[in-house]
Amino acid sequence: MGRIVVTGGAGFVGSHICEALLQRGDEVVAVDNLLTGSVDNIAHLFGEPGFVFVEHDVTNFVHVSGPVDAVMHFASPASPVDYLEHPIKTLKVGSLGTHKTLGLAKDKGARYMLASTSEVYGDPQVHPQTEDYWGHVNPIGPRGVYDEAKRFAEAMTMAYHRSHGVDVRIVRIFNTYGPKMRPNDGRVVSNFLVQALAGKPITVYGDGSQTRSFCYVDDEVRGILALLDSEYVGPVNIGNPNEFTVLELARKVLEVTGSSSEIVYEPLPVDDPTQRKPDITLARRVLGWEPTVALEEGLRSTAAWFSRD
Ligand SMILES: NC(=O)c1ccc[n+]([C@@H]2O[C@H](COP(=O)([O-])OP(=O)(O)OC[C@H]3O[C@@H](n4cnc5c(N)ncnc54)[C@H](O)[C@@H]3O)[C@@H](O)[C@H]2O)c1
Repeated sequence: MGRIVVTGGAGFVGSHICEALLQRGDEVVAVDNLLTGSVDNIAHLFGEPGFVFVEHDVTNFVHVSGPVDAVMHFASPASPVDYLEHPIKTLKVGSLGTHKTLGLAKDKGARYMLASTSEVYGDPQVHPQTEDYWGHVNPIGPRGVYDEAKRFAEAMTMAYHRSHGVDVRIVRIFNTYGPKMRPNDGRVVSNFLVQALAGKPITVYGDGSQTRSFCYVDDEVRGILALLDSEYVGPVNIGNPNEFTVLELARKVLEVTGSSSEIVYEPLPVDDPTQRKPDITLARRVLGWEPTVALEEGLRSTAAWFSRD
C-alpha cells in the first residue's frame, strides 16, 4: 500500500488507474487540469477514503504535501483530435509537465512512471515494434507535437534516473480502448462504435488496410501496474499484439453492435502510420503479463458503455 500521485487522473486511462489503485488499497492524489478529461470519470471515487482530486496544470510547479511513494505521469492530450487542437499544450505537458513531475518524484524519493506511447516509433520501419527500435518520426509534421513530446519526456525521465537516481519506469502504451473514452475523441474505436450505434456511415480513412492493435483498458491497466511494481527500468511495450486492419475493425464493430451502417472511405490523415503492433516479449518475460480480453469482448463492453443512459 502506498500514496500515489496520478497526473491525468480525470482522463480515460488515468481514471481507470485511480480505480485500480484504490481497489488494491493504495491512496491516490489525482491531478488534472480537465483539458481533455472530466470529473465525470472520477466522480464515483470522491467519497472513497484515500482519494483526493486536485485541479492543477502540471506544466506549473507541482506541490503535494505529505509522503508520496509513486508519481504516475499520465497527463497529456492523447487522441489525434486533441493533440492537433492543442499542439503547444501537448508539447508543454510532455516537456515542462514531465520536468515538474520528475521534480516531485525526486523531492519525495518516489518511484516515477512516465506514460509514453507507441507513437515514439512513428511510422515504424520495424514490425512488430520492439523496445530497442528507435522509431521513424517526422519531427515537423502535425503529429510530431505528440510524438516528439513523448520522446523528449522519455529522454528527460532517463536523465533524472542517471543524474539524480530517480527510480523510473517507462510504459509505452499502444492503442487502448474501453469504457470512459470520449465518444468524440476521434480515435478509431470510439468513432466506429458511435457511428455504428447511431446508424451513421462508418468512416474508414484510406482503404482501411492500415493495421492497428487494440488493447482493452483492463488489460492495459493490469500491465501498467505490473510494470510500476516491478524492478525493471527502461521502456516496456504494453499493448495487445493481435493485429487487425482498420477495415476488419469496422466489420467487427458492425457485427458486435448489430448495426447496418455502411462503410465509407475518406482520405488518410498526414503521417498516419501504416502498421502498428507491439512486440510484448519483454513484458511477458519481466512482468509475466499478457492481454486476455478478446477484441469482440472488449468492443461489446465499450459499446454497452456508449449506449448507457
Ligand atoms: N489511450 C491510449 O490509447 C494511449 C496510447 C498511448 C499513450 N497514452 C498515454 O496515456 C496517457 C493518458 O491518455 P488518455 O487516453 O487517458 O487521454 P485523456 O485525454 O483521456 O487523458 C489525459 C488527461 O490529462 C489531462 N491533462 C492534459 N494536460 C494536462 C496538464 N497540463 N495538467 C494536468 N492535466 C492535464 C487531461 O485533462 C486528461 O484528463 C497520456 O499520457 C497518453 O499519452 C494513451
